Amino acid sequence: MEKIHILLHLFYLVVMLLPITLHANVKEKPDYFENHSKVFDGYWKEKAKIAEQDNKAAYFRDPYSVSSNLTSSVSELITMNNGGRRNLIGHLKGKNKGPCQATNPIDRCWRCDPNWANNRQKLADCVLGFGRNTKGGKGGPIYVVIDPSDSDVVNPKPGTLRHAVTRNGPLWIIFSRSMVINLKQELIMTSNKTIDGRGSDVHIAHGAGITIQFIKNVIIHGIKVYNIEVHGGGLIRDAENHFGLRTQSDGDGISIFGSSNIWIDHVSMKNCYDGLIDAIMGSTAITISNSHFTDHNEVMLFGASDSHEADKIMQITLAFNHFGKRLIQRMPRCRFGFVHVVNNAYTHWEMYAIGGSKNPTIISEGNKFIAPNNIHIKQVTKREYTLESVWKNWQWRSINDELLNGAYFIQSGPELKNRPFDRKDMIKARPGTQVGRLTRNAGRLACKVGKPC
Ligand SMILES: *[C@@H]1O[C@H](CO)[C@@H](O)[C@H](O)[C@H]1NC(C)=O
Ligand SMILES: *[C@@H]1O[C@H](CO)[C@@H](O)[C@H](O)[C@H]1NC(C)=O
Ligand SMILES: *[C@@H]1O[C@H](CO)[C@@H](O)[C@H](O)[C@H]1NC(C)=O
Repeated sequence: MEKIHILLHLFYLVVMLLPITLHANVKEKPDYFENHSKVFDGYWKEKAKIAEQDNKAAYFRDPYSVSSNLTSSVSELITMNNGGRRNLIGHLKGKNKGPCQATNPIDRCWRCDPNWANNRQKLADCVLGFGRNTKGGKGGPIYVVIDPSDSDVVNPKPGTLRHAVTRNGPLWIIFSRSMVINLKQELIMTSNKTIDGRGSDVHIAHGAGITIQFIKNVIIHGIKVYNIEVHGGGLIRDAENHFGLRTQSDGDGISIFGSSNIWIDHVSMKNCYDGLIDAIMGSTAITISNSHFTDHNEVMLFGASDSHEADKIMQITLAFNHFGKRLIQRMPRCRFGFVHVVNNAYTHWEMYAIGGSKNPTIISEGNKFIAPNNIHIKQVTKREYTLESVWKNWQWRSINDELLNGAYFIQSGPELKNRPFDRKDMIKARPGTQVGRLTRNAGRLACKVGKPC
């Protein structure tokens, strides 16, 4: 009886692991960067140089100061909520008082305003965490996308998303109506842009994905991105006054490559060929918040190469996200860098939730981890290709996480000395309940003009 049990478990493990390990992220292959840089012309080489400086400038010398800001505002909020439900309703008075659902400090910054549609750029003041200096297209004109087509990737038609994201200068990009945009090649963005899907149901699906390469200052908010495939490359416009040759795209939902000040908020993503969101090549100052992820194997890759020490400046905040159904691994998988994982709900994984190699710092605070039923995959964490004698020094800390259904987080490295929590923090009391509430509206929101969202 025992034996059969063990055999069954072994069989399950092998069957489960086989198809998964066969497909590794394309960025981790040794010739990936070489292949990509081969096609960089003078224009991209120059951009890479500028981006490297920008990324270094976006790096926070003292990571604790920023994480502390995010967690202390969460804690304060929860402290207040314990005093009554007032804070769930917001501060609105009179006839505009609506059922505002905002439950976390990023959302509370804008969602209770029934006038959000006339005050869209207010969103740019709401980001917290390492991406907190991201302004996107704030200060620029509104660009209304009216045409979902993508028939000419070199000379995109005015009114299309590709035309919008390749213009010079800051732009706040919105949509005239709900639409499904099927990108014929990767969408290469330029600096100082916001893609704001609020008020419409915008899907980027069944085509290529979004590329954020050697640029800074991008907000992506309120859209759905799914079923993204590898596309063949060729000539693609990447700026108002430039187009160039691209190799085939990776098949990421959103690819962040050597870029900084990026905020991804209230995005729903699933089922892309490569990663849902990958951040590589010295990218930093990134916040990914309030988003909902499902149906994917390798969810997020932060740093693709063991030899790429430039990723040491990588600082990424993951906050109030829901890692949901049919996810397998890498939520995220990190190399080097500092990743603050705060108040996310992890409700499904099939291998592990958070992993990495090459000494990344991972501070996991106030998350909810619900392990799957299979007894072999209860561990939240995974150290890749490293002896314990080495990884025992990596700082991976779990603080006030709620671990359910047998989930366990193997900590390593020193305790967080400058602990970003102080006495006022109440998260300890019922962290699980709080994460459910904080992440309840993760993913794209169905905002209606004239109503709190
Ligand atoms: C790099 O290019 C070579 C030759 O075109 C190709 O065989 C290989 O698969 C490419 N590698 C990646 C990671 O794209
Ligand atoms: C924390 O947030 C407040 C309000 O948004 C801001 O004024 C302050 O500069 C931030 N502090 C740090 C250390 O980031
Ligand atoms: C983006 O905006 C900033 C601030 O307005 C400006 O300094 C910078 O030159 C802009 N970058 C590009 C590439 O337009």
